[in-house]
Amino acid sequence: MLLKPTLAPTLLLAAHCITKTLACGPLPNHAKRSTSDTDEITYPYPDPGDDTPSNPATTGYFINHLCINVRNVTESIAWYKAAFGLRLIFTLHVSEHFSITYMGHSHGGRNGTGYQTADEMNREKNNREGLIEMMSVSSPRWALPAGIETPNTFSHIGMVVPNITDTQARLEAMGANVLKGYGEETEIDGAFGFATGFTQAGDAISEEEIAAIKQVIDPLNAPLVFVADPDGNIVEIQNQEGSGVV
Ligand SMILES: *[C@@H]1O[C@H](CO)[C@@H](O)[C@H](O)[C@H]1NC(C)=O
Ligand SMILES: *[C@@H]1O[C@H](CO)[C@@H](O)[C@H](O)[C@H]1NC(C)=O
Ligand SMILES: *[C@@H]1O[C@H](CO)[C@@H](O)[C@H](O)[C@H]1NC(C)=O
Repeated sequence: MLLKPTLAPTLLLAAHCITKTLACGPLPNHAKRSTSDTDEITYPYPDPGDDTPSNPATTGYFINHLCINVRNVTESIAWYKAAFGLRLIFTLHVSEHFSITYMGHSHGGRNGTGYQTADEMNREKNNREGLIEMMSVSSPRWALPAGIETPNTFSHIGMVVPNITDTQARLEAMGANVLKGYGEETEIDGAFGFATGFTQAGDAISEEEIAAIKQVIDPLNAPLVFVADPDGNIVEIQNQEGSGVV
């Protein structure tokens, strides 16, 4: 969930670190799940992917964008630009009350200046990864609840930055709603609980299990920052590896 799902070695390393970190705590100091049916299952344990190669018919597929429903597209465009430097590729005003917007990063550029026009970005839109689409219906009745107020199936947007402490300072300076700062613990019963659906689980997850979950995810999440966008969607920020910050 909050691990990097594409990097199995990182996940294994993280699992190894957890067990090292928690060796003295109440969690067991071994992370491998026993293969014997009679042994008690101990958590956390890693379950690395061992699936077969993908159907060659899917070669070339990739995730191009995710889409959020925004309450005020003007505010959301300004916020994603100010907070994370996403550029406006276009807003298509479909009708009086409905618009579709695309934003994306363009720091590399083609000539090393880091600048690409919106036209250039749009031309390569369907070759890009990591775009954000925004749908806007301007109607007072479209008062959609925020992900951090009401559980829903959208969890978060993941962003990677070169210096997470710098990023957090910038977000705080612009008055952004930083839900969890660098090094802080994760409040499972707060905004994070809503955005991840934990609050919906209710009694199905005991206090003891919540405590055990916190022991695992607190050290994992400590180097992350969570911020809420203008609509209350969580953007999870991770530090780029090798920068010396984490
Ligand atoms: C959207 O936000 C902008 C900037 O804050 C504001 O000027 C505008 O009135 C808002 N639009 C609506 C429909 O609330
Ligand atoms: C780089 O590209 C941008 C946009 O294509 C252009 O406006 C700018 O003049 C270019 N800069 C250089 C140094 O070539
Ligand atoms: C990150 O930024 C902080 C200041 O916010 C600075 O002290 C630190 O050296 C930076 N780290 C790197 C790796 O750039």
